[in-house]
Amino acid sequence: MWGGRFADGPSAIMREINASIPFDKRLWRQDIVASRAHVAMLGKQGIVDAADVAAIDRGLAQIADEYEKSGPPEDLSLEDIHMTVESRLAELVGPAAGRLHTARSRNDQVATDFRLWVRDAIDAVIAGLNAFQAALLVRATEHAATIMPGFTHLQIAQPVTLGHHLMAWHAMIGRDLSRFADARARMNRSPLGSAALAGTGFPIDRHATAAALGFDGPTGNSLDSVSDRDFALDYLMAATQCSLHLSRMAEEFVIWASQPYGFVSLPDAYSTGSSIMPQKRNPDAAELVRGHSGRIAGCMVALTMTMKGLPLAYSKDMQDDKPPVFEAHDLLALSIAAMTGMVETTRFVPERMRAAAEAGFSTATDFADWLVREGNIPFREAHHITGRAVKLAETEGVALAALPLEALQAIDSRIDERVFGVLTVDASVASRTSHGGTAPEQVRARIAEARKGKA
Ligand code: ARG
Repeated sequence: MWGGRFADGPSAIMREINASIPFDKRLWRQDIVASRAHVAMLGKQGIVDAADVAAIDRGLAQIADEYEKSGPPEDLSLEDIHMTVESRLAELVGPAAGRLHTARSRNDQVATDFRLWVRDAIDAVIAGLNAFQAALLVRATEHAATIMPGFTHLQIAQPVTLGHHLMAWHAMIGRDLSRFADARARMNRSPLGSAALAGTGFPIDRHATAAALGFDGPTGNSLDSVSDRDFALDYLMAATQCSLHLSRMAEEFVIWASQPYGFVSLPDAYSTGSSIMPQKRNPDAAELVRGHSGRIAGCMVALTMTMKGLPLAYSKDMQDDKPPVFEAHDLLALSIAAMTGMVETTRFVPERMRAAAEAGFSTATDFADWLVREGNIPFREAHHITGRAVKLAETEGVALAALPLEALQAIDSRIDERVFGVLTVDASVASRTSHGGTAPEQVRARIAEARKGKA
């Protein structure tokens, strides 16, 4: 395709290091769609005559059919998907095929194809995250009043509801959705027609090709257009943050599924057994989601390092942009699907959660708050008094609510029997009615907002 001034062909090593077809064949749909938009525009502008346009378009449609059946061939001497498609086009329609590349370069071609691919990837991720959020809403509704311990430092802190916890995950995913939507809106401009780097003298219509490909319009600077990979980085950064969220949730599944916790019983469909320990039921899917987040972050760093220091405009380093994006996307899509499946099918164990919430003096803050409210005691002092009560309960091996009133009054005479009204986990949870708090009525209100698309 470019051998005019070359006497010798490339060495085998050159061929191997230069070829991107082993991975960029994944762009074939986008490559063909963009070429069809380009050639239609060349026809409309009178740059290529109607008969050649028709032949090229027919050829491209046939190639799409062929690849749909068996994928593009992987011939290293054809370098990349763009030359693979074009050489097949030449076989099918003859010399007219050579007119397709008028007013175009592989530089704007690959920038266009890759943007279209990333845009599709974002749409797929958004659909997956919407389904994940829908699953969270179903389980959060079911468990809006299910008591569980809330943790800080992984120490039992205060009782919360499982619905509240699941809605925290929902909020994390909500931010991911907005990051992906934002990335999509920013990237949706067409670089096609920027040609090699400087634009072209042919009377092309970049607005027409942009519209045909579903872009909001053409990009405004040809140098930037062929060297910009921000859209891929935006995707990878949003993917990294999303995978961090999924990893943190997966970690909670791993903890909750361990026997000392027993908060969940993972379904067979998302667990594995051990070849040596018959009793084992391992949360492999959750562990792999946690593991994949490391790889996804690695992909983000890989492209960041590739782009760092590249002068304008195109450099071949940029061919390395695709493998990390493809890898990250495959891992992310699978992780989202696995988390959705686990949330949909996990059996939560409310008895275990409640028992854990009751065991950890989780209502100590309610005790202190009661002293502040009813005894008009400054919070710091109330904290101290409560600490002594917790210490006594600990030594006696009983719950706070099981301490005799006299023992409490020996610690501070201002305590009376009404304090027992705030020491149950249910009373504690029900009292947290501040906006966004864990009281079931609050959780239900946030779920209702989320269902209306307001959260
Ligand atoms: N396969 C190349 C890539 O992915 C296409 C662009 C080639 N451009 C060039 N000037 N050699 O980056």
